[in-house]
Amino acid sequence: METSIQPLREALRNAQRVVVLTGAGVSAESGIPTFRGAEGLWKTYQAKDLATPEAFVRDPELVWEFYNWRRALIGQKTCNPAHTALAQLENIISEFTLITQNVDGLHLLAGSRRVLELHGNIWRVRCTRCGRETMDRSPDMGKRPTCTVCGGLLRPGVVWFGESLDPHILHQAVEAARSCQIMLVVGTSSVVQPAASLAFTAKSGGAMLAEINLEQTPNSDLMDRVLLGKAGEILPRLVEGLP
Ligand code: OAD
Repeated sequence: METSIQPLREALRNAQRVVVLTGAGVSAESGIPTFRGAEGLWKTYQAKDLATPEAFVRDPELVWEFYNWRRALIGQKTCNPAHTALAQLENIISEFTLITQNVDGLHLLAGSRRVLELHGNIWRVRCTRCGRETMDRSPDMGKRPTCTVCGGLLRPGVVWFGESLDPHILHQAVEAARSCQIMLVVGTSSVVQPAASLAFTAKSGGAMLAEINLEQTPNSDLMDRVLLGKAGEILPRLVEGLP
């Protein structure tokens, strides 16, 4: 397994089709807590216990309290050098797709254009009655926000555990993974499906895989290259000097 940056930079220099798959680690240096590990706790709850349809049915006010906390937090944060480097990389690769599990919208803020938000966007809200979706950037949606059209209860426009991903977005992600020459897997624990399996899809399509993470993950063995460290330090170094 190769651990230096230079061979990966050379491979990127010659690549036409590149996919980057990102997770919460990319936004960690913006000050947004990741999901797993000690900082993944809110009050006494694990995020994964609140980000479910069952939790919302049981106690929508608690789930909205959690999302209002996340909205207020994320609303104050901005992109970091990892987001910026990925936006720069897009400018020099002819077919570039950024697949993110993050709902914070920071890749778009950094200037990335072809972004597939697998798990939705925290600023989107959806009516549980009429299905209408809108963008709303208020940091506090209140305890039980309702639809201005039908009065139904609104829910966050994100994908929760146990829910299916938008099939159109997933299809585009799978196609991009299948046909890419290089996939960079950055800042994700690679334990949540189907995102984690996109690396297998890319590998079986013949792509070179590289992981950038603070630590090894269950997908590390699949990788051609593993670069251990902070995304906000490694990605700018990787993109520096390209093309
Ligand atoms: P996790 O919190 O599971 O994993 C974050 C990963 O980022 C870990 O592997 C860390 O080692 C790594 N990491 C932390 N800081 C880093 C840094 N500065 N540079 C590089 N790596 C760093 O987050 P995800 O893998 O994104 O889903 O979690 C996947 C999904 O599970 C999320 O999208 C969310 C969550 O529950 C839903 O909400 C549906």
